[in-house]
Amino acid sequence: MTTSSFASSKNTSQTPLLGVNIDHVATLRQARGVIYPSPLEAALLCERAGADGITIHLREDRRHIQDSDVYEIAGQLTTRMNLEMAATTEMLVIACEVKPFWVCLVPEKRAELTTEGGLDVAGQMTWLTDYISKLQAAGIKVSLFIDPEDKQVSAAIDCGADAIELHTGAYAEAGLADNKTAQDAELKRIKHAIATAQRTNSELLINAGHGLTRDNVNAIAQIEGIYELNIGHALIADAVFVGLEQAVIMMKEAMHKKP
Ligand code: PXP
Repeated sequence: MTTSSFASSKNTSQTPLLGVNIDHVATLRQARGVIYPSPLEAALLCERAGADGITIHLREDRRHIQDSDVYEIAGQLTTRMNLEMAATTEMLVIACEVKPFWVCLVPEKRAELTTEGGLDVAGQMTWLTDYISKLQAAGIKVSLFIDPEDKQVSAAIDCGADAIELHTGAYAEAGLADNKTAQDAELKRIKHAIATAQRTNSELLINAGHGLTRDNVNAIAQIEGIYELNIGHALIADAVFVGLEQAVIMMKEAMHKKP
């Protein structure tokens, strides 16, 4: 899908779209240094099962997705690619060549197991404003992965981002720790950030993701105003037992279930 057909792709349904992050298919492949399982095959299976988009994160250390995956997958998707990456000069060159539908800018630390916190947009306004405009000039829509904080939401809007992706990691962790009070507080924080974003710029798309599972996704999916959820680890973990297509179907069911 090209960005020019973006307007018609706007999600008008109440429930968010599902973007599936297939990084961990590549993690499995890289663990043995072999050529299987194929992230491309996984992406196409997810699309067939109803995924609305495919997310891949090309990390600086190339620990899972490789450059060749990005080019190969970009050429074959029928939905949209969301390329997660750090806002570095190296990644800008790759993104402008591949031209994914979306780029999602994330902070990256070499030692982290996964993306730990949101991007400090407020702390690097000049760099990000210029970086975003270069991506947009190449026809790419830009999303910023941020913590659900008013300061970061406002900064993302001021930088000219097309979307924000709210970090749901703290919400997910509170649930895993069985801390209902903390989880409710995190949910409130996410809802507050969404309200701030909607009030400040009604055109901004609002995504969310990180740590979402079939058990915790519904409360997030049912918040009005979320465009898309990006889910990876838990969905790929489900796929170990039920297969990838079924895991996508089950995640969509969990999102759509009326509470
Ligand atoms: N969104 C962003 C920006 C991420 O970095 C990740 C993890 O790669 C996800 C969503 C998906 O998180 P999870 O794998 O925990 O579902």
